[in-house]
Amino acid sequence: MNNLLVTGGCGFIGANFIRYLLEEAPGFTGRVINVDKLTYAANPLSLADIEKRFPGRYVLVRADIVDRPAMARALDAHGVDAIGHFAAESHVDRSIVRPDDFIQTNVVGTHVLLELFRERRDRIARFHHVSTDEVFGSLGPTGYFTEDTPYRPNSPYSASKAASDHLARAWHETYGLPITISNCSNNYGPYQFPEKLISLMILNALEGKPLPVYGDGKNVRDWLYVRDHCTAIWRVLTRGAPGRTYNVGGRSERPNLDVVGLVCDLVDELAGPRPGGKPRRELIAFVKDRPGHDRRYAIDCSRIERELGWRPEESFETGLRKTVRWYMEHREWVDQVRTGEYQRWIKAHYG
Ligand code: NAD
Ligand code: TYD
Repeated sequence: MNNLLVTGGCGFIGANFIRYLLEEAPGFTGRVINVDKLTYAANPLSLADIEKRFPGRYVLVRADIVDRPAMARALDAHGVDAIGHFAAESHVDRSIVRPDDFIQTNVVGTHVLLELFRERRDRIARFHHVSTDEVFGSLGPTGYFTEDTPYRPNSPYSASKAASDHLARAWHETYGLPITISNCSNNYGPYQFPEKLISLMILNALEGKPLPVYGDGKNVRDWLYVRDHCTAIWRVLTRGAPGRTYNVGGRSERPNLDVVGLVCDLVDELAGPRPGGKPRRELIAFVKDRPGHDRRYAIDCSRIERELGWRPEESFETGLRKTVRWYMEHREWVDQVRTGEYQRWIKAHYG
């Protein structure tokens, strides 16, 4: 793997993955070509130091994965020999309000990449498609998603990801292309845009703002620290069997209300009490439920553990503590995102 193209590398997981690749990934000595459209969810400043610390090994190309000629140019100009496909519209609430971009990027964009891969099958050795456990729908109080669970997506986001998974799988079956897929649970950690549960709650708690909990707060998610997701993707890219899918989870199921309560307690401990000594749990505000809100996700990740020897390193408690600290210690990044300065930076650099 000399020239690895990462799509969506300025987003949350992509930026963490690029950082992991260049700083830590065992045996990776190649270059990273990060192709990103730079939507609202992208922050190129998340990788500003990487560009300086690894000269010649990191390049950012602003392009839309739906734009076939632009993507062909990126693949050919940089001699790409492997692809890690992270780019997506990723937020369920936005998909409910405006699904259009989800269909374009997640479905059409994945199709474009698969076709370009098919045309270059003699030069590109691997395509890894990053996906979500939300494609499996919602669980009752017991049981787990396995790789054989039938797809039953409920939101426009998960339906668009399910469609992209089917395309990736079919391009392997029909054309014999070396494609792998991973379906992962909810990620949290550094550089996450503050619209997802944990990043939003940490910043609101630090700023003394209300903490909106949807419905009764008893919906359950499985939480995975983002670095653990990165190590899983690297394992699959380097050792996964072509055509195989792998579930990735943190073995950390929690009801949302417990997650938000724990965030409050950690912020109280690490940042000190609010004025008047009031605990942050008092900021919790129950709000109207999300339409079609999946009740429970839980992942059986025994395949990747057994076949590829992967394990998550962080428990939910250690990962969440690290995450709260990270947001407290990276106020500059937070301010750039909160004030929209990162978007002005993108405009100044890329028009
Ligand atoms: P994100 O929203 O933080 O980042 C997405 C990135 O993709 C952004 O940098 C954005 O600019 C880029 N992008 C969007 N549309 C594009 C387009 N048309 N062309 C090029 N780039 C485009 O998302 P994330 O949380 O980092 O998720 C990354 C991947 O992981 C997604 O495929 C998502 O479905 C999947 N996933 C995420 C989670 C999670 O908890 N965040 C869990 C499981 C799977
Ligand atoms: P989210 O981070 O949007 O991820 P996903 O919907 O992809 O699982 O939401 C995680 C859970 O938290 C989900 O059950 C919805 C809930 N939630 C809230 O209760 N309040 C919020 O402000 C947000 C963003 C999410």
